[in-house]
Amino acid sequence: MSGIVEGRVVIVTGAARGIGRGHALEFARQGAKVVVNDLGAEVDGTGSSEAAAAVVEEIEALGGEAIVNGEDVSDFDGAARLVQSAVDHFGDLHVLVNNAGILRDRMLVNMTAEEWDAVIRVHLRGTFAPLRHAAAYWRGRAKAGEPVDARIINTTSSSGIYGNPGQGNYGAAKAGIAGLTVIAAKELERYGVTVNAVAPAALTRMTQGLIPSGAAADPDDIAPLVVWLSSAEARGVTGRVFNVRAGVISVAEGWHAGPAVDKGGRWDPAELGAVIPALVDKAAPNALTNGQIPGRES
Ligand SMILES: NC(=O)c1ccc[n+]([C@@H]2O[C@H](COP(=O)([O-])OP(=O)(O)OC[C@H]3O[C@@H](n4cnc5c(N)ncnc54)[C@H](O)[C@@H]3O)[C@@H](O)[C@H]2O)c1
Repeated sequence: MSGIVEGRVVIVTGAARGIGRGHALEFARQGAKVVVNDLGAEVDGTGSSEAAAAVVEEIEALGGEAIVNGEDVSDFDGAARLVQSAVDHFGDLHVLVNNAGILRDRMLVNMTAEEWDAVIRVHLRGTFAPLRHAAAYWRGRAKAGEPVDARIINTTSSSGIYGNPGQGNYGAAKAGIAGLTVIAAKELERYGVTVNAVAPAALTRMTQGLIPSGAAADPDDIAPLVVWLSSAEARGVTGRVFNVRAGVISVAEGWHAGPAVDKGGRWDPAELGAVIPALVDKAAPNALTNGQIPGRES
């Protein structure tokens, strides 16, 4: 199949359903060879199934190439096997899309340590582990003098970068993924690897009840940006986070240093009451959960 990622070898994690399935199918339509990773878990991360096989069948029915991989992305050695499976089967790896995720929502006062650990593990470690092994593979290629033009696209959330009550574990993991994206972009540029993230909004089993049914939020609307970011055309874009919902794409502008004061020496805590409230008043307010700055909604 021909398209903007023709011949590229792509891993999509959590690709059995929802947004990841949309990525895998669009990559195949655009000519990529796809490793369809998925543990086949429930929304809360429990259980496993062969759900990824159906996506591989759909891709083959389109005339594309794909293989199934059932590794748990948060298993460090499993993530190494995932990366190796792409190289063994398709001879190379060009793109890693970290998309797998789970939810265990709870207000912080009631959250258990297990709910915290499970969500941090799948999202944060489950992004780090495949990224780590893919990056080592590309560094090896670059050091051997071979051309590398590779891509990592991570998946964050408005819940993490803007803050959504009831999702302390999930939001902390997703904010961590946004931070990791910026750092990985800086570290991997020298090897020919770009690293970006998307913060999607789409109606899937994960967002039932969170996004009104019937809202414009098709999970397949996220893939076009992810596929473009994976193409040769996107070589100059790295370290960025994009909000995506339906046809709307915006750049999530990150933390930056705002208004400052400098005494020229150490402050006495008692002096700060006359300084900090005025400083906070001068600064832009934090964005709302939808990413808009209050009073400046577009
Ligand atoms: N749907 C939204 O509006 C929305 C918003 C913000 C962020 N996201 C993020 O987008 C991604 C996809 O979410 P979705 O809405 O399509 O959810 P989904 O539940 O439909 O799909 C997630 C997939 O990840 C798989 N998975 C879970 N744990 C795994 C593991 N350890 N290893 C391998 N696969 C695993 C699941 O089996 C499932 O198929 C997630 O990272 C989610 O946090 C979604």
